[in-house]
Amino acid sequence: MLSYPACKINAVDEQLNVLQITDMHLTTPTTLEATTALREDQSQCQQHFDSSLKQALAEDIRCDLILVTGDLVSKVDPLTYDYIFDALKKTQIPFACIAGNHDVTDELGYDLPFDQRQLIARSMDSRLLNQHVIESEYWQLLLLDSSVSGKISGVLANADLDWLCQQLDNCDKPALLALHHHVLPMNSEWIDAHMVENAEEFWQRIDRYEQLRVIISGHTHQEQIRHKNGVTVYSTPSTCYQFLPNKDEFSYDEQASAGYRWLQLANNGNLASWVKRLDT
Ligand SMILES: [Fe+2]
Ligand SMILES: [Fe+2]
Repeated sequence: MLSYPACKINAVDEQLNVLQITDMHLTTPTTLEATTALREDQSQCQQHFDSSLKQALAEDIRCDLILVTGDLVSKVDPLTYDYIFDALKKTQIPFACIAGNHDVTDELGYDLPFDQRQLIARSMDSRLLNQHVIESEYWQLLLLDSSVSGKISGVLANADLDWLCQQLDNCDKPALLALHHHVLPMNSEWIDAHMVENAEEFWQRIDRYEQLRVIISGHTHQEQIRHKNGVTVYSTPSTCYQFLPNKDEFSYDEQASAGYRWLQLANNGNLASWVKRLDT
């Protein structure tokens, strides 16, 4: 029987294969602030989540762990989380989920620019994690909640940064950190206004930990790879809609398909990662 959340993973060969899925933005039809177009968008998000999971798990790669990095829903409703958790449990693969801004904030007025939307603070579903460790023999995976109820941007609280440093002080295995908001600017003014607000402090605090190899996040709905202070920093496409890279104004990327990321964490500390797009 699969228990949630994943806490310890035993890789059966020389690497741990991790599937990252993010920003599913599901909504149950009854809770929609609805127009017909929005209903169609939302049913497409559900189809794309289902199809992404199915496609990834049908690939010729063993999946040892699924990490879900926030914005599971577009409107907070326990029924939507029930649907997602049921789908993930059915895979029989260990998994863990953290919150994004949309998991703790309802936005009213989707058709309006961001600064005109009304932000309603919501409490986080108890199944979403913070300060969570997943141990494996050769790697340490650390999950942090960067969401702030009632806000779009993220913050890493002092207690969370203290916890992160403590974990890294106590374990020198290669480490992966997963959080929702991005910690490096994406060269898009509108989304960079909503990154981790205290990213500079974060980078200062983790600077001395050479074993921190990789950071993964969601939120930006696009693929990017960056390097800073010896850390590889990945952004991952949404399983739903995508944002156009390198644009200062909000714009959807209509050409980009839904996607997900694989990470292969080798026993010797090496890392490989790639994005797959949904077959259309
Ligand atoms: Fe998102
Ligand atoms: Fe987000």
